[in-house]
Amino acid sequence: MVALDQSPAWKQLAHHRDAMKLKSLSEIILGDPRRMENCELALGGLTFNYAFNAVTDETIDLLVKLAQFQGIEQRREQMFRGDTINVTEKRAVLHTALRQKDGKPVMVDGRNVIEDIKAARAKMVAFAKDVREGRWLGATGKPIKHVVNIGIGGSDLGPRLATEALASYVTGLQVHYVANADAFDLQSTLKNCDAEETLFVVVSKTFTTQETLLNANSARKWLTDKLGDAAVAQHFVAVSTNQKATEAFGIPESNMFPMWDWVGGRFSLWSAVGLSLMLAIGPENFQKLCDGAAAMDDHFHTAPLAKNIPVLFALFGIWHRNFHDAHAVAILPYSERLRNLPRYLQQLDMESNGKPVTRDGKPIDYETAPIIFGECGTVGQHSFHQWLHQGSDIVPADFIGVREDDLNAPDHHRVMLSNMVAQMGALAFGQAEGKTPHDVYTGNRSSNFILLDHLDPECLGMLIALYEHKIFVQGAVWDINSFDQPGVELGKKLAKMLESPQGTPAPSQAFMDAFMRRATPKSKK
Ligand code: F6P
Repeated sequence: MVALDQSPAWKQLAHHRDAMKLKSLSEIILGDPRRMENCELALGGLTFNYAFNAVTDETIDLLVKLAQFQGIEQRREQMFRGDTINVTEKRAVLHTALRQKDGKPVMVDGRNVIEDIKAARAKMVAFAKDVREGRWLGATGKPIKHVVNIGIGGSDLGPRLATEALASYVTGLQVHYVANADAFDLQSTLKNCDAEETLFVVVSKTFTTQETLLNANSARKWLTDKLGDAAVAQHFVAVSTNQKATEAFGIPESNMFPMWDWVGGRFSLWSAVGLSLMLAIGPENFQKLCDGAAAMDDHFHTAPLAKNIPVLFALFGIWHRNFHDAHAVAILPYSERLRNLPRYLQQLDMESNGKPVTRDGKPIDYETAPIIFGECGTVGQHSFHQWLHQGSDIVPADFIGVREDDLNAPDHHRVMLSNMVAQMGALAFGQAEGKTPHDVYTGNRSSNFILLDHLDPECLGMLIALYEHKIFVQGAVWDINSFDQPGVELGKKLAKMLESPQGTPAPSQAFMDAFMRRATPKSKK
């Protein structure tokens, strides 16, 4: 098979890139009076506009050819139908099944997983109602007021993002998230909680993750010191694939919510991993979030490639990464409640596509995932935007805005929106003349614009699913497995070895031991 960067489509794109150098982004934009309308695609309450992205119809045509050359339509079909596309771990990849609405069977190893999903969701809903409506009581008979989600990575970032983004839908319970192994995270959270009214949701697909187990054990000690060992069953529930380990921890089967191998941790918000979110916003809003994602799934599954929002979004990323040497993508949500979006997308994108080999293990010599970073507008404008506007790296940006924001004061909201559009304009058009050379902006810097009608469960579901599918398409074009994460294992192994009496193996041993000695508190040496 021809390597991606030797394919006719790739070569045509390289020629096209060279030809396009003669035209600036502002010329492209101003050259088409209907560009705003021509470059806009909408789905429900989400609008994607790429008018300020340095692409033309020809670029799209060639990028779509590249995607077809890599068999994107077949790959998409394989994912939806539950084929083993996570080839290294030999697993299906079925986060889409978790929000599927038509009830059509999806088979994995001869089993219809839709039935398992329904049963798990029913258990979540019943539990969430009991807790939210005060029927689930703590060991001393008091209803629950605080929920503490203990998890890390995919077992934390999604529900944390959604709980914060949907703040206006949170009622009744106070839901907290603890991820860091630094005890400050847990201790500062528990300072405001009364053990009698606190429920811990321990979320770990594997139930072997060191940080999560450390925090879960410390939380259990905090609880049992106050209420005794028998209280654990009323104050701890778990979400995991590993029932043996959750039972060994002391969580009975009745308090356990299942997860499956065919859901990747970073794609798992829609499963029981979203239990703390459901406790925060209620089962109906959780369902609406899933429905929003399902609408994006349907669009991704059926829309023609050149009119397909996730496909185009992904291909524009490839255009910048592989043909313009863009090392990073800036995620710039103009909403305080989306401030965790950059962090969430860091895991989703970089853990999925930060890979050095193809699916069949051949070394890759083109670029894969960019650096994902970002901050909330307008905050980032007063820190790293200088670099976005005048730095020597050209970094495309995603601007994410909310059109109607009932939680924001109208005058503040106006400032957010005008700043967002001003930043997009400054990046695209620049400023050719300044009083001094320091005041010149080259412009010519691309961005995507994503507008949510409201920051509501449906729009948020669509937004997250949009990024999931974007990442899937990019991985498929780069011919990598986006669904494993072998690159995180070595660090875990070495950390365990450093804690063991044998330490790390030679030849790195002397150096690592020396660092450990330097880092060890003086009192412990
Ligand atoms: O170490 C990386 C990772 O495996 C992520 O992929 C995952 O989301 C996170 O750790 C947490 O894993 P678990 O849910 O098994 O605790």
